[in-house]
Amino acid sequence: MQKTFTALFLVTAVFVNVNAFEPFTEARKVLAEIVKLGKTTYSFFQESCDDSWIDFNSTGLQVDLEQKFFGQHIASKVLLKAITDFANNKTPKKPLVLSLHGLTGTGKSFVSQLLASNIYKKGMSSSFVHQFVATVHFPYSSEIDIYKTQLQQWIKGNVSSCARSMFIFDEIDKMPPGLIDSIKPFLDYYDNQDGVSYRRTIFIFLSHAGGERIKQVAFEFWENGKDREEIQLSDLEEKVPLEVFNNKYSGLWHTSLIDKYLIDFFIPFLPLEYRHVRLCALAEMAIRNMEPDEDIADKVAKDMMYSPQEERVFSSKGCKKIASKLVYYK
Ligand SMILES: Nc1ncnc2c1ncn2[C@@H]1O[C@H](COP(=O)(O)OP(=O)(O)OP(=O)(O)O)[C@@H](O)[C@H]1O
Ligand SMILES: [Mg+2]
Repeated sequence: MQKTFTALFLVTAVFVNVNAFEPFTEARKVLAEIVKLGKTTYSFFQESCDDSWIDFNSTGLQVDLEQKFFGQHIASKVLLKAITDFANNKTPKKPLVLSLHGLTGTGKSFVSQLLASNIYKKGMSSSFVHQFVATVHFPYSSEIDIYKTQLQQWIKGNVSSCARSMFIFDEIDKMPPGLIDSIKPFLDYYDNQDGVSYRRTIFIFLSHAGGERIKQVAFEFWENGKDREEIQLSDLEEKVPLEVFNNKYSGLWHTSLIDKYLIDFFIPFLPLEYRHVRLCALAEMAIRNMEPDEDIADKVAKDMMYSPQEERVFSSKGCKKIASKLVYYK
């Protein structure tokens, strides 16, 4: 009796309103919604090569350079201008190529991180930011031919997946001489090569080459009682490329990147003084959520080695190792 009633009810329901409830259609709809939601969630978290993940923040970079980057008035000015112009140019003729020069601990790697974090939402962790360290990736001069091929393939592959990639070459002065020339075709004024355009890519070279020359100029200013901020790019912009071009161990020795003018900016990093080291110590305290302690900052700065030996003007290691010294004085 019960069964007959149920069957009757179902048949009636189907005849009365076929659209009342269609389990398969509904389930499909729900499934489609779940897939859609999944896709949205995935693209929300999954980095992609578009404006939602790559968006240059000019004000952010300016503020970071003003507040976090000490003693580098030339580098700050040139970097901000170079990146802003490049980012605003929708049809650049070539990729942006920056070469950063200075002694150890003056902020070359640090500023590269600031640049990356104001261009890519994921900063240095972005899958579009690629870093090569000469001593790690290209340690053997004898392997130069293999490195050349690998480097070209790596760059081509990455730029074809995302034109707005950034490549940072650290320690180029330790690269086998001639290796950097293998990327010359990518830095040139070509529309595209094998269907890949490099015009929206950023290449950054970091090296110590030219650092001693920069220090010499900074010291001359100091000796003549001139303000460090009076040093202009024009005081160094010819000296640095000349020096690195003629130095076999600069990574840019006799490179066609220089004589074909493919490097857009040579950016000098000045050696840091006592007052900058103090600022680095205070900045490190802020990062560690410590109360700013001027006395500790003084102790840390005093504990650094300075050169020249007699005048003790420039910190020999710049702001390197400040973090570990802070632990000691805390
Ligand atoms: N000009 C600077 N302004 C602020 N902090 C700095 C500056 N220079 C260095 N620092 C601090 O010191 C640390 C070490 O500096 P960084 O690694 O950038 O030096 P570098 O120039 O890349 O040296 P190297 O040539 O040895 O690689 C940075 O992480 C940063 O905390
Ligand atoms: Mg570095």
